[in-house]
Amino acid sequence: MSSNEISHENLPHEQGAHGTAVAESPFADPGLPPHKPRIQDIDERAAKRSERTVALLFTISMLATIGFIASFVIFPVDKIVYVWPIGHVSATNLSLGLTLGVALFCIGAGAVHWARTLMSDTEFADDRHAIEATPEVKAKVMADFADGARESAIGRRPLIRNTMLGAMAMVPLSGIVLLRELGPLPEKKLFHTSWSRGKQLINMNTNEPLRPEDVVVGSLTFAKPEGLEEDDENFNNKIAKDALMIVRIAPQDIKDRRELEWSHQGIVAFSKICTHVGCPISLYEQQTHHVLCPCHQSTFDLSDGARVIFGPAGHPLPQLRIGVNDEGYLEALGDFAEPVGPAFWERG
Ligand code: FES
Repeated sequence: MSSNEISHENLPHEQGAHGTAVAESPFADPGLPPHKPRIQDIDERAAKRSERTVALLFTISMLATIGFIASFVIFPVDKIVYVWPIGHVSATNLSLGLTLGVALFCIGAGAVHWARTLMSDTEFADDRHAIEATPEVKAKVMADFADGARESAIGRRPLIRNTMLGAMAMVPLSGIVLLRELGPLPEKKLFHTSWSRGKQLINMNTNEPLRPEDVVVGSLTFAKPEGLEEDDENFNNKIAKDALMIVRIAPQDIKDRRELEWSHQGIVAFSKICTHVGCPISLYEQQTHHVLCPCHQSTFDLSDGARVIFGPAGHPLPQLRIGVNDEGYLEALGDFAEPVGPAFWERG
């Protein structure tokens, strides 16, 4: 008699009860289906074959790991090889990836084959039982705990108890120190841009200061603050916050009162940085005054305070208050009133 047969006899929900239970009540526990022995359960030669297959897979995994280590030694970092159909690739990356992949795959495949062919596949049914401990067990645990506390003399030695509590309370502080590795604090950087009162608006295409007459109805102009040059070390970081989008709208078409007050003769300046995840906005629909972010199609109405009318952006585009200086050039009348770009902390 095989071990499978022995375990079946011991089961209360065995297939013997299957037919009877269904006949008596359609809702009765049908029990487990009959167990079907696998070829490896009845044929020792098949079992040996499976064993050899599993061993082979584990051996290949070991060889692949050795190959992984050897790849480090054999291939120079800059060695490039041609592999069809991928093309030119780094020999080190290719060999490391292949050998590690084979090593991990063979361990997984070996384990799966072992479990499916050689480990017992007999299913057992076990009744649920209460998880809660009995009152006697609970009482014993509490008594053991009290005994332990008494034997440790923690109550009689407050010095040890207090210093231990202090030590345990302080250990997590080391985790706080590690936060420093996340980099410097952003401080107020996210709240401010390079714009300030009196800075002229510079056309990003011509690099010339903008006059009101340069901005015609229907055009879309991009601007940067005076003093910011492309060869500046921090140009990319700065323009990612400073970039402006300038359009001219007939003043009677501007629906938002603050927008009108912050404009100059219908010329309005808004941040070019989308408030969803920060893509630069570049598509302007002159009839409707809608601008569209190409990344996820957020659409803003520039005639209505750059309100979001479609898409995932959560906030309107911030507006820059502008005017004209004594020389007739457009200038900023301050910084943005709110952070530009993607929303954070619901905009402080
Ligand atoms: S970044 Fe503009 S819609 Fe997503």
